[in-house]
Amino acid sequence: MGLWVFDAGLLTGFLLGLGYVWPAYVSNATPVVAVKLLGKAHPLDLGATLPDGRRVLGDGKTVEGLVSGISTGFAVGVAMHTLLPFLFRDLLEILLISSGALAGDILGAFIKRRLGIKQGAPAPILDQLGFLAVSLLTIHLTYGLPSFITPSTLTLLLLFTLLMHVGTNTLAYLLGLKDTWY
Ligand code: CTP
Ligand code: MG
Repeated sequence: MGLWVFDAGLLTGFLLGLGYVWPAYVSNATPVVAVKLLGKAHPLDLGATLPDGRRVLGDGKTVEGLVSGISTGFAVGVAMHTLLPFLFRDLLEILLISSGALAGDILGAFIKRRLGIKQGAPAPILDQLGFLAVSLLTIHLTYGLPSFITPSTLTLLLLFTLLMHVGTNTLAYLLGLKDTWY
């Protein structure tokens, strides 16, 4: 008996899961590029601080980032939906995946500020997985997770996302889009 057996079902489930969360990846990655292209952007918290003396969200969460992120993620999801109609149930589901991702990113910034972590400073796990966790939680609470997202495919997706996040951020840093590699 081998310790590890190739599992075609797990691989298929993982690939389906990856397709399913792809709009969330796109939504999460778009703002950094969009804001770079625009040059300037307006902070979502309008510069406001809370009684702890820290910004509500900070300058890293902007209106332009939010709008470009949700719309690009949604558009990519809609395109995928026409090619792979079995992936999403309807367009609202795609919108929830995309907006859930941005909500998670914004919630992450809120938590970071409350913990006294400066904008742009790292918060391991929260930075990499917060967007995906809230995106999938939103689906869990509304449509329910699709059958191909099982505990094992979810574990693979989270591990893959950790690696992808570090990889794409390093790439964005090397391309001069980001000031830090994380
Ligand atoms: N960004 C944005 N609006 C968003 C999300 C991201 O404008 N809703 C842009 C900002 O320019 C941000 C960059 O994308 O600096 C990188 O995003 P992220 O790493 O999520 O933000 P941080 O700058 O690290 O800020 P924080 O510490 O609050 O996460
Ligand atoms: Mg960051």
